[in-house]
Amino acid sequence: MTPEEYSFTRYLAAKKSVDDRALNRQVLQVMGDSLGEFLYDRHLKVLEIGAGIGTMIERMVDWDLIADVEYTAIDAEVENIDFARQRLLKWAAQNDFHIVQKGSELKFSAKRGEVLVKLLAVDLFDFLKRYEESNSWDLLIAHAFLDLVDVPDTLPRIFGLACEGGLFYFSINYDGLTILQPAIDNMFDQQVLELYHLTMEQRIHNGNRFGDRNTGRDLFQHIRQAGGHIQSSGSSDWVVHPGSNGYPGDESYFLHFIIHTIHRALENHPDLDHQRFSDWIRQRHDQVDRQELVYIAHQLDYFGICP
Ligand SMILES: C[S@@+](CC[C@H](N)C(=O)[O-])C[C@H]1O[C@@H](n2cnc3c(N)ncnc32)[C@H](O)[C@@H]1O
Repeated sequence: MTPEEYSFTRYLAAKKSVDDRALNRQVLQVMGDSLGEFLYDRHLKVLEIGAGIGTMIERMVDWDLIADVEYTAIDAEVENIDFARQRLLKWAAQNDFHIVQKGSELKFSAKRGEVLVKLLAVDLFDFLKRYEESNSWDLLIAHAFLDLVDVPDTLPRIFGLACEGGLFYFSINYDGLTILQPAIDNMFDQQVLELYHLTMEQRIHNGNRFGDRNTGRDLFQHIRQAGGHIQSSGSSDWVVHPGSNGYPGDESYFLHFIIHTIHRALENHPDLDHQRFSDWIRQRHDQVDRQELVYIAHQLDYFGICP
């Protein structure tokens, strides 16, 4: 596959089954119980930040975590939001949900209640300019997202979007450990992964450098400092390996995309021998094609109460 042929939306679709396995069940259980109590006499308003192609909306309904809900899903990329709309329409049709589409809103009559989805292509920081301190939402969700922003700076502002006593669910927060097996060359494998981690610490926003390879574990402190109360936490590692019929679903694509991401991040790195790195990348893709590669990424999930 050439670099131009990789599709982020297909990667997010392939990632869904990996996430489904990974999400921490204890954290989900505590969230489910809390939502049950919280929802006693109200209609839930959810905001998901960095929602991608909308897979969390499907999951929350399919796993009976939400019923009657107004679900606002924002993502900076128009392509993701357009894809989410088409995908959700298909998903609703497959589930025999009655659908009404109005502008950017989709209304589904699901099994347990009415789901109103508002899909917005907007950057979080533009959204914050409009809604900061609005205290509008009952549940804030950020899934595979917080490791992309400056958490100490952004989290207090995100919390300002929640109503008093509102809840948060921050899932799949990367936590500094990637394992690729079998080894190609232990020393070189380690060098590549170390340099890859360093790129996570060199992100730029508004001219400022930020980034944290250990966002997962550091969230314990950041959530507390921002005034949040953690009710449950636990690991949600991605573990991808071939079974007797190869990788499940589209997970070989997911793996190729992860290798492609490492390739893109480091292709012109001055500390890497260019030829050796290209060979390493090719060998990793070959391991996927031969159904040999095992991939593990350590992550953490959190559920709690906003300040
Ligand atoms: C790793 S993806 C996860 C997407 C989705 N939550 C999932 O797991 O399938 C991160 C998403 O955050 C979006 N994103 C990144 N920065 C953003 C920002 N500043 N505001 C809104 N969305 C953003 C990206 O477009 C991308 O879809």
